[in-house]
Amino acid sequence: MLEVKDLTVEVDGKPVLNGVDLALAEGALHVLLGPNGSGKSSLLATIMGLPSFKVTGGDILFDGQSILHLGIHERASLGVGMAYQRPPSLDGVKIDSFAAALGASDRLAQAAEALDLTEFLDRDMNVGFSGGEIKRWEILKLTLQDPRLLLFDEPESGVDLEHVIAVGQAIQRVVAAPDHRGRICSALVITHTGLILNHVDADQGHIMREGRIVHSGDPHEIFNHIRTKGYTVPDAA
Ligand SMILES: Nc1ncnc2c1ncn2[C@@H]1O[C@H](COP(=O)(O)OP(=O)(O)OP(=O)(O)O)[C@@H](O)[C@H]1O
Ligand SMILES: [Mg+2]
Repeated sequence: MLEVKDLTVEVDGKPVLNGVDLALAEGALHVLLGPNGSGKSSLLATIMGLPSFKVTGGDILFDGQSILHLGIHERASLGVGMAYQRPPSLDGVKIDSFAAALGASDRLAQAAEALDLTEFLDRDMNVGFSGGEIKRWEILKLTLQDPRLLLFDEPESGVDLEHVIAVGQAIQRVVAAPDHRGRICSALVITHTGLILNHVDADQGHIMREGRIVHSGDPHEIFNHIRTKGYTVPDAA
């Protein structure tokens, strides 16, 4: 579904990705691990098409077609969606109105219950939400958008241990089930804590360092390696 080929990217003239290769098949769920500043969020933002991330080389293919020339809205229409690391607050935009604008009112109540956000439907998006509530709403918002390729930027960071289960289950559900047009979904999930690995069936893990993927393999093995040896390449450790 997604192929990232030798991707190089700059922000404000500064290189942030230095030749990323990554392939994500239909139905696959991959996790991306790496130290702060290694380029994980930049990779997701570039796949989503955020304008400050300038592609200086390589390609991003979605269903075999390059999407580099497409804007965020066009990528979203194709089915690319992202749960942001630090989403903004939107004064005056209530959760239920937002869901209505997405045409997802009929799915809101059940999805909100799964993430324990039932009490939040008439509140302005993220205004006064706690850190963990913001993250849970971000997951809910992405699932309401009904994307095929789901990009999660640290979905469990700041979320309490009980709600991490709900976040993990929500991610697993959306990847395991087809979207509303019957198409198979895939996900790329950035995690530092690895907690999400206890609640999703991850197929592959990747370690990112200095804007490159330096190792790929079994996600649980990679996480255990990082816990004991840091962000080194396992074979070389
Ligand atoms: N808008 C920007 N202006 C300047 N530098 C930026 C910008 N966006 C990202 N960078 C730099 O690019 C590098 C990669 O950042 P990125 O956010 O992708 O890291 P990350 O791997 O997601 O880290 P973290 O684990 O802390 O979230 C960092 O050094 C960051 O400071
Ligand atoms: Mg980040």
